[in-house]
Amino acid sequence: MSTEIEFKHIRKSYGDKVIMEDFNLRVEKGEFVTIIGSSGCGKTTALKMVNGLIQPDGGDILIEGENIRSKDQTQLRRNIGYAIQGSVLFPHMTVEQNISYVPNLLNRRDRAKTKAAVEKWMKIVGLDEELKERYPGELSGGQQQRVGIARALAASPEILLMDEPFGAVDEITRGQLQEELLRIYHQTRITVLFVTHDIGEALKLGTKVLVMDHGEVQQYDTPTGLLHHPATPFVERLVEKERRTCRLPEEKLGECEFSGAAEA
Ligand SMILES: Nc1ncnc2c1ncn2[C@@H]1O[C@H](COP(=O)(O)OP(=O)(O)OP(=O)(O)O)[C@@H](O)[C@H]1O
Ligand SMILES: [Mg+2]
Repeated sequence: MSTEIEFKHIRKSYGDKVIMEDFNLRVEKGEFVTIIGSSGCGKTTALKMVNGLIQPDGGDILIEGENIRSKDQTQLRRNIGYAIQGSVLFPHMTVEQNISYVPNLLNRRDRAKTKAAVEKWMKIVGLDEELKERYPGELSGGQQQRVGIARALAASPEILLMDEPFGAVDEITRGQLQEELLRIYHQTRITVLFVTHDIGEALKLGTKVLVMDHGEVQQYDTPTGLLHHPATPFVERLVEKERRTCRLPEEKLGECEFSGAAEA
């Protein structure tokens, strides 16, 4: 596998507050990386650096070996889908216009193709077609999130950044969206960086899990590696409960010596 995203010696402060002193990470192409860590440890900051929304004070970010400093910002962002919780939709555009925004830029001449893409992605994320003409302000929080995800995916990005994308939805919808996202991931094999506060979600979705604390990598490993060989006490505490419950599918657990406790 080739390296898709690389953080090299990243430094970042806000005023006097140092967020990252020397952050290093190498993400291979096609990896689904879930990112978890204490609040304020720098997860959103790291994500936003990848598509140039935040500039590091020092160090470099490479995408497919190319320093993003030397890339055209518009071009960079067009290749990177970004879905975050909250008001990321264009409020003055309908659902359809929101989702077709980037596809329209990419294939200006082929409106039928764009229309078909919008319908496809609305279906995939479970949005009823009749919502097409609505404005974001006329949707529930969960529906807005789905539009955000559809819009990010409709751009056919090579990298997908998701910042707690399922935060505002109920448990059942969340499960469905997780399954849908995994299906899309397996179909497209794009590289995903996905921030979550839920260790169960991190272990379930990720091919790799990044555990961060105070702007540093605590562990970057497979879910199995995290569960079986937690690198620090911080990781140990994080996975402790999940180890006992062992709710993960077998291929993620590996040889689960804790499975005696898994009787549900
Ligand atoms: N624009 C800003 N100006 C000043 N401080 C900031 C700014 N953006 C973020 N911070 C601070 O930087 C730190 C890291 O923020 P960041 O948003 O990356 O954290 P996070 O890991 O995503 O947290 P959460 O899990 O709560 O979303 C926090 O202490 C935050 O308060
Ligand atoms: Mg955040």
